[in-house]
Parts: sequence; C-alpha cells; structure tokens
Amino acid sequence: MTTPHLPGQPQLAYQGDELFMEQVRLSDLAKEYGTPLFVYSKACMLSALNAYQQGFSGREVQICYAMKANPALGVIAVFAQAGCGFDVVSGGELARVLAAGGRADKVIFSGVGKTRCEMRQALAARIACFNVESEEELEVLNEVALSMGVRAPISLRVNPNVDPKTHPYISTGLKSSKFGVAHERVLPVYQRAAALPGIEVVGIDCHIGSQITQEGPYLDMVDRMLDMVEAIEKCGVHIHHIDFGGGLGIDYNGETPPDATQLWKKLLHKLDARGFGARRLLVEPGRSLVGNAGVCVSEVLYLKPGEHKSFCIIDAAMNDLPRPAMYQAYHQIVPLRCPNRDADATWEVVGPVCESGDWIGHDRALDVNPGDLLAVLSAGAYCMSMASNYNSRGRAAEVLVDHHQSHLIRRRESIADQMRQEMPAPESAGSAAT
Ligand code: LLP
Repeated sequence: MTTPHLPGQPQLAYQGDELFMEQVRLSDLAKEYGTPLFVYSKACMLSALNAYQQGFSGREVQICYAMKANPALGVIAVFAQAGCGFDVVSGGELARVLAAGGRADKVIFSGVGKTRCEMRQALAARIACFNVESEEELEVLNEVALSMGVRAPISLRVNPNVDPKTHPYISTGLKSSKFGVAHERVLPVYQRAAALPGIEVVGIDCHIGSQITQEGPYLDMVDRMLDMVEAIEKCGVHIHHIDFGGGLGIDYNGETPPDATQLWKKLLHKLDARGFGARRLLVEPGRSLVGNAGVCVSEVLYLKPGEHKSFCIIDAAMNDLPRPAMYQAYHQIVPLRCPNRDADATWEVVGPVCESGDWIGHDRALDVNPGDLLAVLSAGAYCMSMASNYNSRGRAAEVLVDHHQSHLIRRRESIADQMRQEMPAPESAGSAAT
C-alpha cells in the first residue's frame, strides 16, 4: 500500500499506520472532541511565517497576517506573539486582534466598504494605516477623522491591472474588479489626499488576488507599483511604505507556488535595482501562513454504492468546508489510519447538507467503512472563517497542536449557541387562541 501524499504539510505524517499532527495522534483528538474537528499545527504556522521573515531579513518590514483566512483567537495569538501585524477588513476583525493580544499600531484596515462606525473604532484604537479603496471613502474618512480631532494615516489601494492567473472569484487586481483605485486615477487621488486636513498619506497598497502559484504576476505587480511610487513622489507626495498585499498560493494538489523565501528575495532585487531598497515594506499574507497548517477530521457516516456513482457520506459538509462548492476547489482527503491495501473503489465524498453542491471531493480512491475517520487537508485557511450554520448545523470545534500538546481553541457550537440571538415572533392579534 502506498502512503497517501500529504501536500505541503511537514507537520502532518503517518507514524506507523496512524496520522499525526506534530506529536499528537489525530484519532485521539477526534475521540476527545468529536467530529467534524479542525486541527491546526502551531509549528507549521510559525515555519510558514519564518519563510517570509527569511525572505525579508535585513529589511524594514511588517508582515500583516490577513486574518480573514483564519480569525480564531488562538491562531491570532500565535502570530501576535511572533511579532506579526494584522490586515483586517471589519470592526469585528479589529476587535479580535485586540482581544487576542495583537497591537493596534501594527494593524492595517483593508476593504471596499468601511463604515463610519468602523472608521471611528479604528481611529480610536490608533491603527497603523487605512488602505483606502475609493475616492468617496477618502472623503468620508477625512470627515470622520476631523470630527475626532485626529488625522487618519492612509495608503491608497491601487489597482495595477495585473492578471494573477487564479480563480476568477479570487482575482482582485484586474480593471474589472471592485477593488482599489483605478490606475489612471491614482495621481489625482493622492494629490487630493495630501491636501485633506484629516488625512496623512503614509503609503501605497495593492493586492492582486489569492492562491497565486506563479511568480510572473508578482514581478509585474512590483514593477507597476514602483512606477506609481515614482510618479506620485514626483508630484511631491512622499510614500513612506509600500504594501504588496498577500496572495501567495499553497499546495492543495501538487501545485508548486513559489516559496516565500525565494520569491521575496527576487522581488527585493527589483526594489534594490530601482533605488527602493531602504523603503519600509508591508505584506498581507493569509492562506500561505495557515492553509497547510490545518486539517478537518471527519467521520464516515454511510456508504452508498451506486450504479453510476458511489457516495461516501461524511459528517463534515459544505457549511464546514465551503471551498469545493464555492470555487470547485480541491482538498486532499486521506484516512487517519493508513489502510493496508490499495483502494478498490472511488467515491464521491459528500456531506449531509441538502444540496447537490454539497461535495467535498469527487472520484476519490479510498478504502473506507462507516465509522472510519478521514482528514480533509489544507483546511487551515478560508474554511472555518467561511463556515456557516446552513441546515442549522453547529460550527465545528478547533484545536491547536503544539508539539505533543493540544489545546481546544474553540468549542463546538451547540444548538443553544445557534439559537441564542433569536426570539419568537409575537403572535398576531387575529390568530390568538379564543
Ligand atoms: N489582503 C487583502 C486585501 C485581501 O483581500 C486578501 C484576501 C489577502 C490580503 C490575503 O490573501 P491570501 O494571502 O490569503 O491569498 N475565500 C477564498 C480566498 C479569498 C481571498 C480574499 N482576500 C478562498 O477560499 O480561496
């Protein structure tokens, strides 16, 4: 029997015939906490962060974890303790950073629809920078800052019109996208920003997309950003920092994205060659810091062999793992106990949700029986953060593994948790019982 391929996850390995995350047997966690269960490796997250730190060594840089990838307080705390800043996109995310011990002065705030209330919250916390995405947002932020007697530090998120060559739903740097300020409006908007009394220009920002697996789009983006910085500074506006966004892909199914250490070394050469080597730099990685650090452990409920397709029904569903349904994404699925023979059947691995779109993997060769435990891999990013209560299913529990220890960082959502915010509607007068 060949051991299943475990993409990009050095902390995940079979020991004997059992799957371990670091020094913890995953089936023990399933027994203790139930399934579906998300399990994250602290060492894997820190080693992914280390790749960025190595790539930027000797430079003035702030790595801002894009916490939308995985906003668990226990995950944020790992990065905060390692000196990370955070890229947030809502008041809720900012509150999470502060609750987990992150520093407000290392927070940048992205997003096309910041409300006045969120702006006030972020100004009161004294965050490092707002990544402003439109001319109207700039005017509103100016008003809000003046009303509080402060100046708002800003970058403009510019849209460089670079194709990141990834799934269309996660491409953000094209002209047709809702994100950022169009290339041709960048100069007048910077001039306007510099003239507004409630605004302090501190940088420039861009983010072209997610799950990028080629270095070409990054290299193009860097060239365009540096062209823009030169043009803006010629107009007399100083750009203190350059933020290159996030987007670096991971290995889900044999993809070979550039390694952060190597990619950033190459990009820094470009900066040096154009005289920007000493500039303060920011990056906003999400998926590449947590994606391969996580798995979702799930139990096989039923097997339903059929003439055309055979279904393996597991207890995790599209509400826990929405990426296959949303982006036709591939996640590797492996057994927790390495089988002693090759699979002789292929299965549609599906969840219990009442939708045909509720699939986790198509045509997977697995030797499975009801009651077996499976791990859905590369589930650390954009799984729990996009999980829902669809079909009134409670969201899964989350565990952080650290060497031989495991810590519950989020308990399983109960039915009472789900109903806590709701109240019965009053009976209408006409329908009252007589
Ligand atoms: N910065 C900004 C402004 C972003 O919008 C994003 C992601 C990031 C940074 C982090 O990008 P990353 O390094 O994670 O690629 N739900 C989708 C991914 C959506 C990404 C949204 N923006 C998925 O499951 O593939």
